[in-house]
Amino acid sequence: MIKVVSFLICFVSIYFAYSQGSKLDIIPHPFMIKYGNNYCHIPSKFNIRTNEKLLNEANFLKEYLETITFNKIPIILAKNNSAKSSGDFCINIFSSNQKTSVEEYYLSTSRSSIDISSPSKIGAMHAIQTIKQLFSLSVKKEEMKKQINSSHLIIPMVSIEDYPVFSHRGLLLDCSRHFFSVETIKKYIDLLSFYKMNVLHWHLTEDQGWRIQIDKYPELTKKGAWRKDEKGDIYGGFYSKKEIKDIVSYAAQRHITIIPEIELPGHSQAAIASYPWLSCTGKKIEVANDWGVFKEIYCAGKDSVFLFLENVLSEVMELFPSKYIHIGGDEAPKVRWDNCSKCQKRIKENNLKDAHELQSYFIKRVEAFLNKNDRKLIGWDEILEGGLSENATVQSWRGMKGGVEAANQNHSVIMSPTSHAYFDYGLESIDLKKVYSFNPIPKEVSKQKQHFIIGGECNIWTEHVPNDSILDQKVFPRLLAMSEVLWYSPQKKEYADFYSRLQKHYPLLDKKGVNYGAETVASRIQSSFYSGHLWTNAQKGDTSLNLKYKWVYKDGSTSKEKKLKESIKVEKSGTFEVQAYKRNRPYGKVNKQEFVKHKGVQKKIEYLSAKPHKSYSSRGNSSLLDGRKGSLNFRDGNWQGFSKEDFSAIIDLGKKTSISKIEAGFYQYSNSWIFLPKKVRFFSSLDGEKFEEIGEKEPFKNLQKKRGKFMFNSNVIIMSSFEGHQARYVKIEVDNIGLVPDWHEAAGSPAWMFIDEIIIE
Ligand code: ACM
Ligand code: ZN
Repeated sequence: MIKVVSFLICFVSIYFAYSQGSKLDIIPHPFMIKYGNNYCHIPSKFNIRTNEKLLNEANFLKEYLETITFNKIPIILAKNNSAKSSGDFCINIFSSNQKTSVEEYYLSTSRSSIDISSPSKIGAMHAIQTIKQLFSLSVKKEEMKKQINSSHLIIPMVSIEDYPVFSHRGLLLDCSRHFFSVETIKKYIDLLSFYKMNVLHWHLTEDQGWRIQIDKYPELTKKGAWRKDEKGDIYGGFYSKKEIKDIVSYAAQRHITIIPEIELPGHSQAAIASYPWLSCTGKKIEVANDWGVFKEIYCAGKDSVFLFLENVLSEVMELFPSKYIHIGGDEAPKVRWDNCSKCQKRIKENNLKDAHELQSYFIKRVEAFLNKNDRKLIGWDEILEGGLSENATVQSWRGMKGGVEAANQNHSVIMSPTSHAYFDYGLESIDLKKVYSFNPIPKEVSKQKQHFIIGGECNIWTEHVPNDSILDQKVFPRLLAMSEVLWYSPQKKEYADFYSRLQKHYPLLDKKGVNYGAETVASRIQSSFYSGHLWTNAQKGDTSLNLKYKWVYKDGSTSKEKKLKESIKVEKSGTFEVQAYKRNRPYGKVNKQEFVKHKGVQKKIEYLSAKPHKSYSSRGNSSLLDGRKGSLNFRDGNWQGFSKEDFSAIIDLGKKTSISKIEAGFYQYSNSWIFLPKKVRFFSSLDGEKFEEIGEKEPFKNLQKKRGKFMFNSNVIIMSSFEGHQARYVKIEVDNIGLVPDWHEAAGSPAWMFIDEIIIE
């Protein structure tokens, strides 16, 4: 009876197939789908047929289907799909010839079978993940009921041709800043495979912890895997070789390649804490217990250091079969090398110009070792400095510039810029839509060189990710956007369509135990200037939200909470606080923006110095005079950042104005190399030509070593006659400290200076 019914339903399905097309919710979106409106009902007894090569993948599907059908599903081995067996329903998984990509697959459902073909095991796995999504996502509610009542499976009628645009689709997981369990790593491998990513970039060594067992150097995990915080509590952990082998094999079964990252020459304080002779000074130090960049790095002058690294890498290569080994190469301060006789001797003997070329020497020497062992090196874009080694692949993180440069030098490139791919950043700078807008191929790369960009990664650095729950919140749902960016054609992708498919994935993520976070900030506060006034408003992160606002004025008074329906005039200085509500319950945190009403708001400003750095340019020129004050979050979009550069500008108040105070706000977070300026000078003028200095401030030196994030306002109060100090123009000059100071771990690196807002009263 079931057979007759299923035959009829499938017949009807075929009749409608390809006519109207009901949407499937697969992520990442397949290259091509021909869809039907109806469903194929799979009888309760069916077989899987496959060949020897794809047996692992067939077994993977079998296990999945057995858990949802509670039936035993036999696997029948056959050479190819042509020799059809009995008339029973079959899922056929067979090899095909490659047309476009090794990862391609074809999948079609019909009255009597589901047919999968692919030239590769990984392609077959992608097809199986698509089937899993089809079973769990794309069956309408009423059909689902039939499925539950009849105990047979239902799958949409469909024909899919699919392959990825990029061959490298990865997630970097930092297990050094915080340690994650084997179970968590496996959960992430499952999720990566489910969303057709193919690389887990496993960040295993850092200043704050060495996480991989190395037999030849037991101190690396005895000492280097543990750090002591300020209260004396010990934090740490490491993966034993047995655990790593288990993880690697688990990943291989799901066609996820694990690329281990062993950081050198920098980010190596945990290794140096374990074996102090690895550094230039040989001094005993502790595993780092703060975030940042540290000056203790491997000595480039000692052959024993290279022998150590070769021994470590040999054990790493025994554990990880991946073609690539990531060696870091980022953020290596050169202050120790500049002051080490052995490093200087190495520079001289090898006719190197400076410490940058010494770093290049370092990387090249490690690359030669990896290449000799038939492996390829990946390094962060700093490995371009001082000359790229012969076969290196560059992972571009400080924007896409490094990647463009490497592609132009005919090197393979992985794109993971801080602008789109850093999932440790908050949603205010990288929300779901921003991730989705990422195109790993920037327009600066010519058509001929585009193939050097092999793909991208999203990076989750875990300084501020102490547990699984926060990890999930940061990675999801952004990972789904990245998976589509790296799989589907940039010309065809559409955010609205992705967004609607994504909604169907939330119940699925719930089932998988993923504590996903939000898609965007609950509200974005905006401001504008018209009719001679400053106005503010806020945009909802999602149409399902309602916003309410209140004011906490600088004079201590507050306003009542009201519905936010239109732009609100900024009447006096204070903080505009917006709370989002979903079904009358508060949703997300209160979003706050401090406004300052002053005489400089929206006045003309001319930069005499360089413009701010591209990554911290805020909303352009007007943002230093927009009445919006930067907050403790230096990525809040209000701050302008200058790397190593000074800042100076002239503000034109439009007419002769009486002023009593000029103030500028600065920021410091030395962990991120952001420092208060060396000096600030204020001037005024009536004609814009002759400037009178009205104050100079240098009060910052004693604050330079202060840790943590803080803001500091520098100002001059102008003592003047009864009617005030008269000026039309105000000039401000700010001296960046230039280089990160000597006492700092990153001594000698370019220092950031952050400024907002310039307030004229
Ligand atoms: C990096 O974020 N330092 C690669
Ligand atoms: Zn040295």
